[in-house]
Amino acid sequence: MSHHHHSEQADPAWTAVDAYVESLLIPADPALEMAQRDADAAGMPPIAVSPAQGKMLMLLAMALRAERVLEIGTLAGCSTIWLGRGVAARNGRVVTLEHDPTHARVARANIERAGLAGTVEVVEGTALETLPKIGERGIGPFDLVFIDADKEHYAAYLDWSIRLSRRGAVIIADNVVREGAVLDETHTDPRAQGARAFNAALARDPRVEATIVQTVGCKKWDGFAMAVVK
Ligand code: SAH
Ligand code: DHB
Ligand code: MG
Repeated sequence: MSHHHHSEQADPAWTAVDAYVESLLIPADPALEMAQRDADAAGMPPIAVSPAQGKMLMLLAMALRAERVLEIGTLAGCSTIWLGRGVAARNGRVVTLEHDPTHARVARANIERAGLAGTVEVVEGTALETLPKIGERGIGPFDLVFIDADKEHYAAYLDWSIRLSRRGAVIIADNVVREGAVLDETHTDPRAQGARAFNAALARDPRVEATIVQTVGCKKWDGFAMAVVK
Protein backbone atom coordinates (compact mmCIF):
# COMPACT_ATOMS: atom_id res chain seq x y z
CA MET A 1 0.00 0.00 0.00
CA SER A 2 1.27 3.44 -0.86
CA HIS A 3 0.10 6.95 -0.17
CA HIS A 4 1.93 8.27 -3.11
CA HIS A 5 -0.40 7.54 -5.98
CA HIS A 6 -3.90 8.93 -5.72
CA SER A 7 -5.10 6.98 -2.69
CA GLU A 8 -8.88 6.78 -2.72
CA GLN A 9 -9.26 7.12 1.04
CA ALA A 10 -7.46 8.95 3.77
CA ASP A 11 -5.08 6.74 5.73
CA PRO A 12 -7.11 5.44 8.74
CA ALA A 13 -4.42 6.73 11.10
CA TRP A 14 -4.70 10.25 9.67
CA THR A 15 -8.47 10.17 10.17
CA ALA A 16 -8.04 8.78 13.69
CA VAL A 17 -5.71 11.65 14.59
CA ASP A 18 -8.24 14.16 13.26
CA ALA A 19 -10.91 12.51 15.44
CA TYR A 20 -8.53 12.73 18.40
CA VAL A 21 -7.87 16.42 17.73
CA GLU A 22 -11.60 17.09 17.48
CA SER A 23 -12.30 15.22 20.71
CA LEU A 24 -9.67 17.29 22.50
CA LEU A 25 -10.16 20.75 21.05
CA ILE A 26 -13.45 21.02 19.21
CA PRO A 27 -16.53 20.56 21.37
CA ALA A 28 -19.87 19.40 19.98
CA ASP A 29 -20.89 21.98 17.39
CA PRO A 30 -24.56 21.68 16.40
CA ALA A 31 -24.51 24.60 13.92
CA LEU A 32 -21.59 23.16 12.03
CA GLU A 33 -22.90 19.59 12.20
CA MET A 34 -26.25 20.73 10.77
CA ALA A 35 -24.45 22.72 8.08
CA GLN A 36 -22.51 19.63 7.00
CA ARG A 37 -25.68 17.52 7.13
CA ASP A 38 -27.51 19.96 4.86
CA ALA A 39 -24.52 20.13 2.51
CA ASP A 40 -24.64 16.34 2.18
CA ALA A 41 -28.43 16.41 1.73
CA ALA A 42 -28.05 18.95 -1.10
CA GLY A 43 -25.57 16.62 -2.82
CA MET A 44 -22.56 18.86 -2.34
CA PRO A 45 -19.12 17.23 -2.56
CA PRO A 46 -17.48 16.44 0.82
CA ILE A 47 -14.76 19.04 0.44
CA ALA A 48 -15.39 21.54 3.23
CA VAL A 49 -12.50 22.31 5.56
CA SER A 50 -12.24 19.82 8.40
CA PRO A 51 -13.14 21.13 11.86
CA ALA A 52 -9.46 21.29 12.81
CA GLN A 53 -8.70 23.30 9.67
CA GLY A 54 -11.75 25.53 10.11
CA LYS A 55 -10.78 26.30 13.68
CA MET A 56 -7.32 27.30 12.43
CA LEU A 57 -9.03 29.87 10.18
CA MET A 58 -11.01 31.18 13.16
CA LEU A 59 -7.84 31.44 15.25
CA LEU A 60 -6.03 33.31 12.46
CA ALA A 61 -8.89 35.82 12.29
CA MET A 62 -8.71 36.23 16.08
CA ALA A 63 -4.91 36.57 16.10
CA LEU A 64 -5.07 39.24 13.36
CA ARG A 65 -7.93 40.98 15.17
CA ALA A 66 -9.52 40.81 11.74
CA GLU A 67 -12.50 43.03 11.02
CA ARG A 68 -12.74 42.38 7.29
CA VAL A 69 -12.39 38.88 5.88
CA LEU A 70 -12.80 37.77 2.27
CA GLU A 71 -13.53 34.18 1.27
CA ILE A 72 -13.54 32.93 -2.32
CA GLY A 73 -15.60 29.72 -2.53
CA THR A 74 -18.39 29.27 0.05
CA LEU A 75 -19.89 25.82 -0.63
CA ALA A 76 -22.25 25.23 2.35
CA GLY A 77 -20.58 27.86 4.51
CA CYS A 78 -18.59 25.63 6.89
CA SER A 79 -15.33 27.56 6.52
CA THR A 80 -17.40 30.75 6.41
CA ILE A 81 -18.93 29.97 9.80
CA TRP A 82 -15.47 29.50 11.33
CA LEU A 83 -14.27 32.78 9.82
CA GLY A 84 -17.42 34.53 11.04
CA ARG A 85 -16.81 33.26 14.56
CA GLY A 86 -13.31 34.69 14.34
CA VAL A 87 -14.53 38.23 13.67
CA ALA A 88 -17.90 38.33 15.47
CA ALA A 89 -16.50 39.57 18.81
CA ARG A 90 -15.22 42.71 17.09
CA ASN A 91 -18.37 43.13 15.04
CA GLY A 92 -16.28 42.30 11.95
CA ARG A 93 -17.55 41.24 8.56
CA VAL A 94 -16.98 38.27 6.26
CA VAL A 95 -17.71 38.55 2.55
CA THR A 96 -17.84 35.17 0.81
CA LEU A 97 -18.09 34.64 -2.96
CA GLU A 98 -20.04 31.74 -4.47
CA HIS A 99 -21.19 31.21 -8.05
CA ASP A 100 -23.55 28.29 -7.52
CA PRO A 101 -27.02 29.58 -6.52
CA THR A 102 -27.88 26.35 -4.68
CA HIS A 103 -24.66 26.49 -2.69
CA ALA A 104 -25.31 30.15 -1.86
CA ARG A 105 -28.85 29.38 -0.68
CA VAL A 106 -27.80 26.46 1.53
CA ALA A 107 -24.88 28.50 2.88
CA ARG A 108 -27.09 31.46 3.80
CA ALA A 109 -29.39 29.15 5.78
CA ASN A 110 -26.43 27.51 7.53
CA ILE A 111 -24.89 30.90 8.35
CA GLU A 112 -28.17 32.20 9.74
CA ARG A 113 -28.60 29.10 11.90
CA ALA A 114 -25.08 29.66 13.22
CA GLY A 115 -26.14 33.14 14.35
CA LEU A 116 -23.93 34.87 11.81
CA ALA A 117 -26.46 36.40 9.39
CA GLY A 118 -25.41 39.88 10.52
CA THR A 119 -21.72 39.04 10.16
CA VAL A 120 -21.54 37.30 6.78
CA GLU A 121 -22.54 38.45 3.33
CA VAL A 122 -22.77 35.74 0.65
CA VAL A 123 -22.14 37.40 -2.71
CA GLU A 124 -23.53 35.31 -5.55
CA GLY A 125 -21.72 35.21 -8.87
CA THR A 126 -18.53 34.18 -10.60
CA ALA A 127 -15.67 35.38 -8.42
CA LEU A 128 -13.77 37.03 -11.27
CA GLU A 129 -16.90 39.13 -11.88
CA THR A 130 -17.71 39.89 -8.24
CA LEU A 131 -14.15 40.65 -7.04
CA PRO A 132 -13.94 43.99 -8.94
CA LYS A 133 -17.28 45.01 -7.41
CA ILE A 134 -16.02 44.22 -3.91
CA GLY A 135 -13.26 46.75 -4.52
CA GLU A 136 -15.68 49.31 -5.96
CA ARG A 137 -18.04 48.93 -3.00
CA GLY A 138 -15.17 49.82 -0.67
CA ILE A 139 -15.69 46.78 1.56
CA GLY A 140 -11.96 46.24 2.04
CA PRO A 141 -9.15 46.45 2.65
CA PHE A 142 -9.18 42.91 4.00
CA ASP A 143 -7.19 41.61 6.96
CA LEU A 144 -7.54 37.95 5.99
CA VAL A 145 -8.43 36.16 2.75
CA PHE A 146 -9.27 32.47 2.30
CA ILE A 147 -8.98 31.24 -1.30
CA ASP A 148 -10.88 27.98 -1.81
CA ALA A 149 -12.89 28.16 -5.07
CA ASP A 150 -12.06 26.73 -8.50
CA LYS A 151 -8.37 25.89 -8.60
CA GLU A 152 -8.09 26.94 -12.28
CA HIS A 153 -8.39 30.61 -11.31
CA TYR A 154 -6.29 30.54 -8.13
CA ALA A 155 -3.48 32.67 -9.61
CA ALA A 156 -5.99 35.38 -10.58
CA TYR A 157 -7.56 35.13 -7.10
CA LEU A 158 -4.12 35.69 -5.57
CA ASP A 159 -3.71 38.92 -7.52
CA TRP A 160 -7.16 40.15 -6.48
CA SER A 161 -6.58 39.13 -2.88
CA ILE A 162 -3.38 41.14 -2.69
CA ARG A 163 -4.96 44.17 -4.34
CA LEU A 164 -7.90 44.10 -1.92
CA SER A 165 -5.81 43.56 1.24
CA ARG A 166 -4.00 45.81 3.69
CA ARG A 167 -0.30 45.57 4.42
CA GLY A 168 0.23 42.73 6.88
CA ALA A 169 -2.86 40.88 5.74
CA VAL A 170 -2.73 37.09 5.63
CA ILE A 171 -3.83 35.12 2.58
CA ILE A 172 -4.51 31.39 2.97
CA ALA A 173 -5.13 29.16 -0.05
CA ASP A 174 -6.50 25.63 0.36
CA ASN A 175 -5.59 22.55 -1.68
CA VAL A 176 -2.25 23.60 -3.11
CA VAL A 177 -0.59 20.15 -2.80
CA ARG A 178 -3.30 17.81 -4.12
CA GLU A 179 -1.63 14.53 -3.10
CA GLY A 180 1.58 15.69 -4.70
CA ALA A 181 -0.04 16.18 -8.11
CA VAL A 182 1.41 19.73 -8.20
CA LEU A 183 4.84 18.19 -8.79
CA ASP A 184 3.76 16.92 -12.20
CA GLU A 185 4.01 19.59 -14.87
CA THR A 186 2.16 17.34 -17.32
CA HIS A 187 -0.67 16.41 -14.94
CA THR A 188 -3.99 16.15 -16.79
CA ASP A 189 -6.16 17.40 -13.90
CA PRO A 190 -6.76 21.12 -14.49
CA ARG A 191 -7.15 21.56 -10.73
CA ALA A 192 -3.59 20.32 -10.23
CA GLN A 193 -2.37 22.63 -13.00
CA GLY A 194 -4.27 25.52 -11.43
CA ALA A 195 -2.72 24.88 -8.02
CA ARG A 196 0.71 24.54 -9.61
CA ALA A 197 0.29 27.85 -11.44
CA PHE A 198 -0.87 29.47 -8.20
CA ASN A 199 2.16 28.18 -6.31
CA ALA A 200 4.49 29.51 -9.01
CA ALA A 201 2.73 32.90 -8.98
CA LEU A 202 2.99 33.00 -5.20
CA ALA A 203 6.71 32.31 -5.35
CA ARG A 204 7.48 35.10 -7.81
CA ASP A 205 5.12 37.79 -6.50
CA PRO A 206 7.17 40.55 -4.86
CA ARG A 207 4.12 41.83 -2.93
CA VAL A 208 4.00 38.79 -0.60
CA GLU A 209 6.18 36.56 1.55
CA ALA A 210 4.83 33.03 1.47
CA THR A 211 5.15 29.37 2.39
CA ILE A 212 3.29 26.13 1.74
CA VAL A 213 2.59 23.62 4.49
CA GLN A 214 1.60 20.07 3.59
CA THR A 215 -1.18 18.46 5.58
CA VAL A 216 -2.59 14.98 6.11
CA GLY A 217 -5.85 14.16 7.81
CA CYS A 218 -9.42 13.22 7.04
CA LYS A 219 -8.99 15.20 3.79
CA LYS A 220 -6.07 13.00 2.75
CA TRP A 221 -2.81 14.59 1.64
CA ASP A 222 -3.00 18.23 0.70
CA GLY A 223 -1.73 21.58 1.94
CA PHE A 224 -2.25 25.24 2.64
CA ALA A 225 -0.38 28.18 1.23
CA MET A 226 0.12 31.11 3.58
CA ALA A 227 1.17 34.55 2.43
CA VAL A 228 1.68 37.85 4.22
CA VAL A 229 1.17 41.03 2.21
CA LYS A 230 4.29 43.20 2.48
N1 SAH B 1 -14.69 26.99 1.53
C1 SAH B 1 -15.64 25.87 1.59
C2 SAH B 1 -15.43 24.91 0.44
C3 SAH B 1 -15.46 25.56 -0.92
S1 SAH B 1 -15.63 24.35 -2.23
C4 SAH B 1 -15.46 25.14 2.91
O1 SAH B 1 -14.30 24.80 3.22
O2 SAH B 1 -16.44 24.89 3.62
C5 SAH B 1 -15.47 25.41 -3.62
C6 SAH B 1 -16.67 26.32 -3.88
O3 SAH B 1 -16.27 27.27 -4.86
C7 SAH B 1 -17.89 25.59 -4.44
O4 SAH B 1 -19.04 25.91 -3.71
C8 SAH B 1 -18.02 26.12 -5.87
O5 SAH B 1 -19.36 26.24 -6.32
C9 SAH B 1 -17.37 27.49 -5.73
N2 SAH B 1 -16.88 28.01 -6.99
C10 SAH B 1 -16.30 27.31 -8.01
N3 SAH B 1 -15.97 28.14 -9.00
C11 SAH B 1 -16.31 29.38 -8.63
C12 SAH B 1 -16.20 30.67 -9.22
N4 SAH B 1 -15.67 30.83 -10.42
N5 SAH B 1 -16.65 31.73 -8.53
C13 SAH B 1 -17.19 31.58 -7.31
N6 SAH B 1 -17.32 30.39 -6.69
C14 SAH B 1 -16.89 29.31 -7.33
C1 DHB C 1 -11.39 19.87 -3.99
C2 DHB C 1 -11.68 21.18 -3.67
C3 DHB C 1 -11.50 21.63 -2.37
O1 DHB C 1 -11.73 22.91 -2.02
C4 DHB C 1 -11.02 20.77 -1.40
O2 DHB C 1 -10.82 21.28 -0.15
C5 DHB C 1 -10.74 19.45 -1.70
C6 DHB C 1 -10.93 19.00 -3.01
C7 DHB C 1 -11.55 19.42 -5.39
O3 DHB C 1 -12.13 20.17 -6.19
O4 DHB C 1 -11.10 18.34 -5.70
MG1 MG D 1 -10.69 23.38 -0.23
